[in-house]
Amino acid sequence: MEFIVHDLRNPIAVISIILDHLLLIDSRGLTERQKEDVNACKAATKRMATLINSILDLSRLENKKMSLEIKEVNVEKLLESALDEVSVFAKSRQIKLEKRVETQRETFYTDYRVMVRVLVNLLSNAIKVSLEGSEVSVIVNTDTDTAVKFSVIDQGPGIPKNMTDKIFDKFVQLKNRNLGVAGEGSGLGLTFCKLAVEELDGRIWIDSEEGKGTAVRFTLPAGK
Ligand SMILES: Nc1ncnc2c1ncn2[C@@H]1O[C@H](COP(=O)(O)OP(=O)(O)OP(=O)(O)O)[C@@H](O)[C@H]1O
Ligand SMILES: [Mg+2]
Repeated sequence: MEFIVHDLRNPIAVISIILDHLLLIDSRGLTERQKEDVNACKAATKRMATLINSILDLSRLENKKMSLEIKEVNVEKLLESALDEVSVFAKSRQIKLEKRVETQRETFYTDYRVMVRVLVNLLSNAIKVSLEGSEVSVIVNTDTDTAVKFSVIDQGPGIPKNMTDKIFDKFVQLKNRNLGVAGEGSGLGLTFCKLAVEELDGRIWIDSEEGKGTAVRFTLPAGK
């Protein structure tokens, strides 16, 4: 199963390259309507590629086959990398991104790449459920000397109490929300976050009040 999913990446990459070619090189021969169609195909292809990567990551995490690379990580740099990745998306939705480091600790030991992806997933969720013009913040603090705590906070619609645990399950999405782009996605992002944080010996949970926004928080051991 994993091999098949993995090998799906190739044909999708080919389709993506051909669509790019069509838009860049041959677009003069296309009508506006055809260009729109090609763009829609491109977006769908990108979505498919993301989905395949998420499925692969989840399967690796579930089978404990994801190799972690634990190194000393700079807190500021980690936040910057994650915020950088979502900045275009945030701008397109006029969301202000805020970063607050409320700890003296400059570094801790973890897997940098995995942590960036966890934060990017949480920030993307926060951005997509937020109304245009609102704010999304990421805060780092330390309650104890041995752990680091991250919170990604939005002013979006919130998550009902009875869903704050379930929402981490595979493919679970909240329905009937007329909130811009919130309907997109596959319901795998939070599952990845939970498996990744737990693989790094941390804990992840949600503090939310319906109508008042959501804080997704996780703690990780500071290590060494
Ligand atoms: N900050 C949030 N506020 C309100 N609802 C949220 C928030 N984060 C996630 N959700 C809800 O939880 C669902 C699951 O989130 P998850 O990240 O797992 O999947 P997704 O964002 O729908 O798709 P994917 O991350 O795979 O692209 C979302 O569809 C959304 O309904
Ligand atoms: Mg998501």
